[in-house]
Amino acid sequence: MYDLIILGGGPGGYHAAGLAAKAGLKTTLFEKRSLGGVCLNEGCIPSKALLHSAKIFDYAKGEGAKYGVNCKEAALDYPAAVARKDKVVATLITGIESTLTKAGVEIIRELGVIKGKAAGGFQVEAAGKGYTARYLLICTGSEPVIPPIKGIEAAMQSRDILALTEIPRTLAVIGGGVIGLEMASLFNSAGSKVTVYEMTDKVAGPFDREISDALQKVYEKKGVAFKLGTAVGDVAALGVEKTLCCVGRKPAITGFGLEALSIPVQKGAVLTDEFMKTGVPGVFAAGDVNGKYMLAHTAYREAEVAVNNILGRRDMMEYHAIPTVIYTNPEAAGIGHTLESAKEQGIAATETKLPLYHSGRYLAENEGGNGVCKLVWSGNRLIGGHILGNPASEIVSTLSALLYRETSAEQIKKIIFPHPTVAEIIKEAVYHA
Ligand code: NAI
Repeated sequence: MYDLIILGGGPGGYHAAGLAAKAGLKTTLFEKRSLGGVCLNEGCIPSKALLHSAKIFDYAKGEGAKYGVNCKEAALDYPAAVARKDKVVATLITGIESTLTKAGVEIIRELGVIKGKAAGGFQVEAAGKGYTARYLLICTGSEPVIPPIKGIEAAMQSRDILALTEIPRTLAVIGGGVIGLEMASLFNSAGSKVTVYEMTDKVAGPFDREISDALQKVYEKKGVAFKLGTAVGDVAALGVEKTLCCVGRKPAITGFGLEALSIPVQKGAVLTDEFMKTGVPGVFAAGDVNGKYMLAHTAYREAEVAVNNILGRRDMMEYHAIPTVIYTNPEAAGIGHTLESAKEQGIAATETKLPLYHSGRYLAENEGGNGVCKLVWSGNRLIGGHILGNPASEIVSTLSALLYRETSAEQIKKIIFPHPTVAEIIKEAVYHA
């Protein structure tokens, strides 16, 4: 008899397993593929490794000249970049495995299927063997949405494109969201002729429109073509060597016995409350499976909330300060309200906007950059922050802390930022408000 059974070893599942075992719960984790989930095996981490190789190649093949560095011959050895990406992923998987094992988690490399509940607890079966636990945590993640487009079976998903070892001459990307932009960036740098097809009138989904448009312009200059307001009807008609389909993801709710416990589902996602409880007492869910914010960092926090509540420590999930990053070059990052989303919710908001060239560090390291920092205020309270420019992915952590605490302009003025850093732009922007 276990205290806790966790289904799914992605960011939500493995983080929860480690925390639960360290707190003394007898914990078992079921993972049918590889530990780390989509994020580590075929998403966040492999894409960042390849994007890093692409960035170095961009500098070598010409960008470096802006900084007085000339390379005579630059070549991208893509198979070598892929091999390095695989090494990074393998190292991290080993790390997770060793951390969990040390914490005392039993890892079962099988599909765990919920069978029901008996007096003893929740019953799960894997490879013909039964397991019982007092609590169940569902972290089964998400899967790609496959749109009803003619010939879509021939298109790659993000998993497939990250496994390519050759660069296609031509690449069509269906969907101009986060995955679409990051892959367009990677393959544009690597030498493909990339066209992005996006159904709506802007790229980057709910991102601040000015930043989305500016990012699109940067990539148009680099040679990526964008067809906005275009829903693709036939993959073959695109006339390209390879097509990537990335039109969103949906919670993975089938194939593991959700129905055996009649766990409530709404709009294709497992329904959870702020304590990560599902509609069945004793069953919790965290990560993409609840369809709220399909991001690894949300899953981590939801996992903490679930485990704390299982341990009887009251903890609540808050969704007002969740950052999003697009790892293009330049990076874009945002958190909280845009002026537009605040208006939609009837919040009287104002905006402060400051070009990043106000930061000495940015100017020193980003020749000709069009970076910008936008802060959104409700009165003098910070309710949103949006950045275009490197390293937005790191600067947004500061905004996370400020937004989480709903920090006021006066308080931000008292904080000491290290100099010279690009993050100083936040304080600078407050003084410009
Ligand atoms: P997404 O929701 O970000 O973007 C999908 C885009 O496809 C939208 O702009 C949508 O309008 C468009 N679209 C939908 N149907 C279409 C059609 N038939 N033709 C043309 N365009 C169409 O989804 P994406 O990029 O697939 O990413 C999935 C999830 O993966 C994200 O929600 C995110 O949680 C996660 N992710 C996060 C990353 C990050 O944080 N940096 C990176 C990659 C993925």
